[in-house]
Amino acid sequence: MSSFDTQSRVISAMRPTGRLHWGHYHGVLKKWVELQHVYECFFFVADWHALTTHYEQPFSVEENVFEMLVDWLAVGVKPGAATLFIQSRIPEQAELHLLLSMITPLAWLERVPAFKDRQEALKGQDLATYGFLGYPLMQSADILAYRAGLVSIGVDQLAHVEVTRQIARRFNHLYGREPGFEVSVQAAIQKMGKKHGKLYHSLRRRYLEQGEQEALETARALIKEQSNISLGDRERLLGYLEGGGKVILPEPEPLFSDAPRVTGLDGHKMSKSRGNGIGLREKPDSIARKIRTMQTDSARVRRTDPGEPERCPVWRLHELYSGEDIKGWVQQGCRSAGIGCLDCKKPLIDAVLEEQKPILERARPYEDNPNLVKSIIAEGCEVARDEAKSTLEEVRRRMGLEYF
Ligand code: TRP
Ligand code: SF4
Repeated sequence: MSSFDTQSRVISAMRPTGRLHWGHYHGVLKKWVELQHVYECFFFVADWHALTTHYEQPFSVEENVFEMLVDWLAVGVKPGAATLFIQSRIPEQAELHLLLSMITPLAWLERVPAFKDRQEALKGQDLATYGFLGYPLMQSADILAYRAGLVSIGVDQLAHVEVTRQIARRFNHLYGREPGFEVSVQAAIQKMGKKHGKLYHSLRRRYLEQGEQEALETARALIKEQSNISLGDRERLLGYLEGGGKVILPEPEPLFSDAPRVTGLDGHKMSKSRGNGIGLREKPDSIARKIRTMQTDSARVRRTDPGEPERCPVWRLHELYSGEDIKGWVQQGCRSAGIGCLDCKKPLIDAVLEEQKPILERARPYEDNPNLVKSIIAEGCEVARDEAKSTLEEVRRRMGLEYF
């Protein structure tokens, strides 16, 4: 496994904290379904992460894991296209977390904004724990164990990817210099041939001395093109390029989904904790009822009062689900009191239920036969574990733990 192959590897995960709703679908899962056809994707259930905040309810984690996996499969995440697994089945991730903890300054963890924010948001729970502080580091280990080049996340997770990059850099800096590194690098450069070797040197200088990002990109592409050098040499060349040693743990980049924010029943962002969500596999009549009783523009008290879509949570859903024709009809009909709120909600209910149909269909075999899910996960865990094992072999060796 080499660091540039991993440029096309994506990792992402979800904490199993409850049944998924349409916010997860539009915000995360649709993106996963796209990504799985473009990149090599590793998607996992972050059950250890769930325990950092929900350690008092371990049994709900178990049930949530199963339901969440069915949700993933139901929206079209495909076991043939992506590797699906469970964090706690890969002990190497825990080992990496432990080893990285040795080199992680406390201040890096304490200043992650999510740490204070979540502690604030989850007031009443005792989160002055070691595990909770280590959450971002655990996430770093999740990512680095697979040497993934890209992490698919929402913007709220950016700080975690940044910590991961810092830790990777520190690790490479501390352990990337093998004895004789300079000599091996020079030999690798020679193998590129005179012309390419010269180009590599000058690109490296432009990057290190002038900070030219473009030179760095060009040099990376150049290394990628070389067909007659070994993987180890490539990693040395990549590391040396940035002024460091061999890249053992590549720094990942965030990959944001440009996902829309899905409005919940009360006009706020759909979220489990607010209880304003519509479940992905919720019964159709329950979905219809929720939308029918959903809040509207509070200025529209009577049917004859004109309303303003901009003030109405229902309109936010139309923006997500409806075409221009229906949206025009809503705007005009609402402002002129030409339509009632129930009329307005009807096409929305139809659209959500229509979108749900194939999801329910795909879910059925898994609901009927949970063993299908188990065997998909068993297979995914095996693939993932092999990757994590090979990373850990290198990490242990670098940290001086490979003896006898
Ligand atoms: N912390 C993420 C969240 O709360 C979940 C997560 C755990 C994750 N490990 C990860 C996401 C690794 C991406 C990569 O949503
Ligand atoms: Fe909202 Fe539609 Fe009623 Fe207007 S007509 S207030 S947009 S539900």
